[in-house]
Amino acid sequence: MDSVVRRLLRTKPAEQIVAEGGHGEGGELRRTMTLWQLTLFSVGATLGTGIFVILGQAVPKAGPAVILAFVLAAVTALFSALSYAELAGTIPVSGSSYSYAYATLGELVAWVCGWCLMLEYAVSVAAVAVGWGEYLNHFFRDLFGWQLPAAITHSPGDQGGVINVTAILIVLLATWLLLRGASESATANAIFVLIKIAVLVFFCVVAFTAFESGNLTPFVPMGVAGITAAASQVFFSYIGFDAASTAGEEARNPKRDLPLAILLSLVIVTVVYVLVALAAVGAMPWQQFDPETTEASLALIADRATGSTWAGLIISFGAVIAIASVVLTVLYGQTRILFAMSRDGLLPRIFERIDPRRQVPVANTLIVATFVSVLAGFIPLGQLAEATSIGTLFAFAIVNVGVLVLRRTQPDLPRSFRTPLFPLTPILGVIFCVVVMLGLAGVTWLAFAIWMAVGLLAYFLYGFRHSRLSRSVR
Ligand code: ALA
Repeated sequence: MDSVVRRLLRTKPAEQIVAEGGHGEGGELRRTMTLWQLTLFSVGATLGTGIFVILGQAVPKAGPAVILAFVLAAVTALFSALSYAELAGTIPVSGSSYSYAYATLGELVAWVCGWCLMLEYAVSVAAVAVGWGEYLNHFFRDLFGWQLPAAITHSPGDQGGVINVTAILIVLLATWLLLRGASESATANAIFVLIKIAVLVFFCVVAFTAFESGNLTPFVPMGVAGITAAASQVFFSYIGFDAASTAGEEARNPKRDLPLAILLSLVIVTVVYVLVALAAVGAMPWQQFDPETTEASLALIADRATGSTWAGLIISFGAVIAIASVVLTVLYGQTRILFAMSRDGLLPRIFERIDPRRQVPVANTLIVATFVSVLAGFIPLGQLAEATSIGTLFAFAIVNVGVLVLRRTQPDLPRSFRTPLFPLTPILGVIFCVVVMLGLAGVTWLAFAIWMAVGLLAYFLYGFRHSRLSRSVR
């Protein structure tokens, strides 16, 4: 019994994690990414369905104070971002919070974290892909005056949907790009991100022309509870700022650049979100946002602001490109996390096999793409987004605890970034994560409990026995 507990708590020394970095079965990942690329990589993973679609769904909860909900969600993200930055600068590998937990809190917690990251990455890709389909359809509507049938643009049971083919389509497209190699994808990603920021700036300009200050009063019609509920919902839009931490082994100068990229990307998206939210509720009275539909709200607002379809057309076209980049980046992040878990023996070795010619984990990418396609085709956006948020918040809480533990257990480890006001920031990080989690629906908690139970079962049936640390700790 004693030895079982010891095995569950076995940690992988941070130095060992760093030394092993970059090696898989059959080859190494290439170190090509600069600070600029890493930052755009995180921004690319972050700006997506959250701001383009979920903003519109959150407005009825908080009214114009949805702007404050974005600020509250940003503060929650900030505390955790500081912790991510510290750990990414200390243990600059590709496994993100999974690797950090392995170094600090032991194998079982690391596994739980990795399992939650599948919600943050694979499930969120599915959510984002569904949002992409919404804008594709709005684009067709504004351009040709017709839409794709509901049967192939919605999940079963949702507004007449049968299977969401559009969402699956974008997943397959991103998979194809990833199989062509990471560095090409990074360049493509940089272009996508610039387009996306340009589209959101364009939206702000159009919406501000229809701005009416009367739309902002009363500012908090649903009270503080409305703001926290909306913050839980829009938290989804910040997920991804930590994506650079999954590319540690492809960064040229990871110790310096990873912490900077994580914080910079959070600052960039926060500024963009607050401006977009202000423009949106200033241009359209909050009572007119429909909580039931997942319509392409920014394009809709622009159509109304201009009284014609040209602005909505530009925005939906930009969104189609922009959201595609999220799918690409987040899918990539997921494969790299599984890569790290497989290298540790907690998942079958197929996930760490790198194709020697392409230097890409091909089998891993294809498995992830299949899993994501099934989710994207069959589950509605709201449920996917909430499942993503709960898993991410749990993983963030673990990262905050990881900072507290590592400072205690290994105070002398070289750290390229230290979170300020220690230990206050990581403690606040945990508290904020819990508060935002409490704002999520009961059904989301139930799904999360089932997901965790399956994860623990998988660990005890496979990872516990195949762990490569098991040979050293008995
Ligand atoms: N933050 C990402 C999005 O909003 C997941 O699409």
